Amino acid sequence: MKVTLLTGASSGIGEAWADRLAAEKHNLVLVARSESKLKELSTTLSHKYGVSVQYIAIDLSQPQADLRIVEETEKRKLTVACLINNAGIGTAGDFTQLNLANELGMMQLNMMAVVSLTHHYLKQMRERNSGTIINVASMAAFMPAPFMAAYAASKAFVKSFTEALAEENRPFNIRIMLLCPGATETKFFETANINESDKKALLGKANIQTPDMVADEAMKGMKSQKIVVISGLTNRIGVKLGALLPNSVIAKFIAKGARSTFQKGYSYV
Ligand SMILES: NC(=O)c1ccc[n+]([C@@H]2O[C@H](COP(=O)([O-])OP(=O)(O)OC[C@H]3O[C@@H](n4cnc5c(N)ncnc54)[C@H](OP(=O)(O)O)[C@@H]3O)[C@@H](O)[C@H]2O)c1
Repeated sequence: MKVTLLTGASSGIGEAWADRLAAEKHNLVLVARSESKLKELSTTLSHKYGVSVQYIAIDLSQPQADLRIVEETEKRKLTVACLINNAGIGTAGDFTQLNLANELGMMQLNMMAVVSLTHHYLKQMRERNSGTIINVASMAAFMPAPFMAAYAASKAFVKSFTEALAEENRPFNIRIMLLCPGATETKFFETANINESDKKALLGKANIQTPDMVADEAMKGMKSQKIVVISGLTNRIGVKLGALLPNSVIAKFIAKGARSTFQKGYSYV
């Protein structure tokens, strides 16, 4: 059976996206850690839309998680026709104050898991001469983000990796797309220990989207030929304007808003 494998499906953007995909008759394999949530969502979506919805509960920040997923899809005789690498987390703060193990765990999830799953399933897609891979980055992929330094760098990695693979695989009928959401109202901020005032400091007056809005734009993007899909008009304008400025200016601008929160007592010169 042909399936769409969607990571980070238990909440936020992934959960909203799973609903849209099931509505468009994708058979799904949902991946995340929260087994009870995945079980509940699988039952709801399969009843609501009459498609097959299975799940694999796994921690993608553990090395070898990719191998377990591949083994599992092979055991269940599933062909992954579409892979969506959406699972991801962020961290925020003065880099020296952040827990190194957490930073490395985030890099494992945001980058290594994406590379590993893409490698396994892209090889199979190349043999079939068909398939779709979508990786989720962020607006942070376009700029250095002081006080979210490693997170933004991990998403810049995903962006570069995905854009390169899109071109590399152009002759093989494989669609590769990068989705870049901007600030979206999900558990992301809670997981990153970003409270409401930190959020204000980091995002300023950024336009915050809902997961449903992002999922709708993702579905529209999947039907287009675009490689980079940025969710939200203000975000699209932001990226165009940002491209006119040197990164050092953008970094200063972001740091200016966030320094008083994350480096209390240090005056900004
Ligand atoms: N929200 C934003 O403002 C924003 C902006 C730009 C980009 N993004 C990106 O959008 C993507 C989705 O995030 P979201 O905003 O929807 O946040 P979310 O609601 O926190 O969803 C994150 C998803 O990833 C899963 N996940 C987290 N750690 C995992 C792990 N170790 N192993 C397996 N699954 C894991 C979570 O499930 P479990 O906890 O059940 O494992 C959840 O399903 C991420 O890549 C994020 O970087 C978000």
